[in-house]
Amino acid sequence: MIFIRVIGFSVVVLLCYTLFANILPQVQSNPPEDDEPIAAGEMDMAAMIDWGEKLFSGKGTCTLCHNNLGRAPDLLEMDLATAFDERLNDDRYEGEAKSEEGAVAVETYLRESLVEPSVYVVAGFGKKGSDDKVSPMPDVSGAPISLSEPQVNALIAFLQSRAGMEATVPLPEAGDAEADAEDEEEEGPAETAEAAIEKFTCGACHDLAESGADVGPKLNGIGQRLGVDGLRKAILDPNADIAEGFEPDAMPSDYAEQMRISELNLIIDYLMNLPESGGQ
Ligand code: HEC
Ligand code: HEC
Repeated sequence: MIFIRVIGFSVVVLLCYTLFANILPQVQSNPPEDDEPIAAGEMDMAAMIDWGEKLFSGKGTCTLCHNNLGRAPDLLEMDLATAFDERLNDDRYEGEAKSEEGAVAVETYLRESLVEPSVYVVAGFGKKGSDDKVSPMPDVSGAPISLSEPQVNALIAFLQSRAGMEATVPLPEAGDAEADAEDEEEEGPAETAEAAIEKFTCGACHDLAESGADVGPKLNGIGQRLGVDGLRKAILDPNADIAEGFEPDAMPSDYAEQMRISELNLIIDYLMNLPESGGQ
């Protein structure tokens, strides 16, 4: 009977779907997930170093400045062991690592570089007019980069390992890494201008949200000068027009690929309303 055949066929089709539905997700979740941070308390030093490498170009946004454009020392290219040795033996170095030796001294030097960048400023890289006393680098544990202590440790471990030395940082304790895993989950689109500006770390270079940064120009009153279209162009195609007194290639030029239109519009609205002076 046709009726029975139709039922029989439907059952077979249904079975196939059920089988596939059961098999597919297992197949997909089998390969180890690279980006998945290792559970709390289980991280060894090798995993810390890997984590640091990811943070360097990811959440840490270190490559915004540490690249081959000359704004900051090119940490991934230079001979780190020699550089750290020179810094620590420089008469201008007055930090805590003075009384330490070897990899431990380098750990202290790196921790200062990351969270108190003005303790020692690499010659020629200081803020304009500061005589290399003030670093243009933000404290990476504060806004806008906001790294946790285990994340700072992971970056230090990564840089120690790049310098060919033992990584001496403490490993995360149970609980630490889990909190960080949540931090690193892919965020959805930012819903407010402040969140979008934080997500794209504009405040690392521009004096936004009281960051005081001056790698890029002040953006007060920029709306009146550039208008909506000009702002869109300045953000998506920063090398088309270079702000007076600044070098090309200093601002990331891949925001067009990274931003949602909604995020771009929030930022443009915010900049359009940024008053000429003060009160940011
Ligand atoms: C807004 C630009 C900027 C960002 C973002 C930035 N840095 Fe820097 N960094 C600098 C500049 C400029 C210097 C050189 C001046 C100084 O010594 O503080 C520097 C210096 C350093 C030094 C000392 C280098 C040396 O040659 O002794 C280290 C280490 C360092 N940064 C690590 C990092 C890491 C890791 C990150 C990401 C978490 C980061 N930086 C993010 C601008 C930046
Ligand atoms: C790594 C540093 C850096 C980051 C991060 C950065 N900028 Fe910039 N920005 C600059 C520099 C340097 C200039 C000046 C050179 C130029 O015009 O391209 C600039 C120029 C601009 C200008 C044009 C200013 C003028 O006077 O014409 C605007 C607008 C701007 N940035 C907005 C943003 C926004 C919004 C973000 C975040 C989504 C951002 N920038 C992130 C460094 C940065």
